Amino acid sequence: MIRFIDELDLKARRVIMRVDFNVPLDAECRITDDNRIQAAMPTIRHALENGSRLLICSHLGRPKGKRVEKYSLAPVAARLGEILGFEVPLAPDCIGPETAGMAARVQEGRALMLENLRYHAGETANDPEFASALAGLADVYVNDAFAVSHRAHASVVGVPAVMKECGGGFLMKSEITYFNRAMREPARPMIAILGGAKVSSKLGAIENILPRVDVLIIGGAMANTFLVARGISVGRSLVESELVDVAARLMDDAAERGVKLLLPSDAVVAAEMTEGAATETVDIHSVPEDRMILDIGPATVKAYSEALEGAGTIVWNGPMGAFEIKPFSSGTMELAHAVGRSSALSIIGGGDTDLAIHMAGEKDNVSYMSTGGGAFLSLLEGKTLPGFEALEKCGGR
Ligand code: 3PG
Repeated sequence: MIRFIDELDLKARRVIMRVDFNVPLDAECRITDDNRIQAAMPTIRHALENGSRLLICSHLGRPKGKRVEKYSLAPVAARLGEILGFEVPLAPDCIGPETAGMAARVQEGRALMLENLRYHAGETANDPEFASALAGLADVYVNDAFAVSHRAHASVVGVPAVMKECGGGFLMKSEITYFNRAMREPARPMIAILGGAKVSSKLGAIENILPRVDVLIIGGAMANTFLVARGISVGRSLVESELVDVAARLMDDAAERGVKLLLPSDAVVAAEMTEGAATETVDIHSVPEDRMILDIGPATVKAYSEALEGAGTIVWNGPMGAFEIKPFSSGTMELAHAVGRSSALSIIGGGDTDLAIHMAGEKDNVSYMSTGGGAFLSLLEGKTLPGFEALEKCGGR
C-alpha cells in the first residue's frame, strides 16, 4: 500500500519532493505552459503549511548527464516563487556541499529548488551513490511526479529505496485513483479511444485493454494498419506492414471477446501533410493511390460520436489525425467535443490528446486529464510503474 503525504508527519522535517516540472520553454527559456507546476501545487502547499523544510527536485529536458544552461530550472524556481508569493531560491546543483549547506538552512514552511537532476548521469542510471547523496539531504521523501514514475531513475526509485519514510503526493493520488476507477470496475459501457501514428507504440495498450472494454475506437495513422488487415487499400498512407498480421489477430481477438472494434469508414486525404494542401473526403474503400489518410471523415466522426453517447467510462489516448495542421484537425476536434458532451467518467492521457482537448476548449468538460504521457501509456499497458513500486516498498514495508 502506498502511503500519501497527508499520512506523514512533516513538522520541521526536511522533505525531498520529486516533482515533474519538465515544462515546455520557448527559445528565451520562458515557460509556455505551467500546468505541471500548478498540478503539484496542492502537495507543495500541504508540505509548506505543515511546517516542512521543503527541497523540491525535478528533471527538465534530457541534458544527458551534463550541465546545459537551457535546461536550468531557474525559470521554474522563479515561477514557483510567483505562485507562492515568496522567493524559492535555486541551489546551484542537486547534490554537493553547497547545495547541502543551502538545504540545511531552509526554514520551516519554506522551499528550496534543486537544480536539474539530469545534469548528473547518475539520475537516469539510477546510480546508488547519486541516490544516497540526494537522500542524505532529507528525512522524508515524497513523490508527486506521476509523469516520470515509469522511469527507474535515482530520484524515482533509488532515493525511496534508502529512505525510511516516503509518501505519494496528491497528484500521484489523483492519477492512481482516476486510473483505477476507469480500469478496475468501470461504469459500462467502457469505451477506449486509441489513436496516434503507430500501432507499434500502442500494441501493449491494445492488448491489455481489449479484455476490459466494450468498445474500442481506433483512429489516427495507426488505423491504417488495421484497414490494410481488412483488405482495404490506403494509398500512400503510413502503414506498419510488419504489423498487419498482428492487427488482424487483434481484430479476431476483439470479435471473440464481443468487443466492438470501430475503424474509420471515411477519411480526409491529401497528397501532402501541409497547411495549404488540397484535401478531399473519401469513402474508406476509395482512397486514391497517390493520397494519404490524414484525418477521419465526417461519417466516421458521426459513428464514433454516437458510440460515445451512452458511454459509462471513456479512456482516450492519441489523436484521430494530423490535428495540429488545420485541414486535418476537424476529426480530432469533433471527437473532443463528443467526449466533452458525454456524462461518462472520461480520462484523457498523453501529450497530443491533452493538447487536442485544450485546443477544442473541452478541458473543463472531461473528468480527468492525466499529466503523464509515457507513464499513462505504461499504465494502459498494464505495467507496474517503478515509482509506485518504490513507494510501496519504502522503509522496508
Ligand atoms: C514527460 O515529459 O513525459 C516526463 O517528464 C518524462 O520525460 P522523459 O520522457 O524525458 O523521461
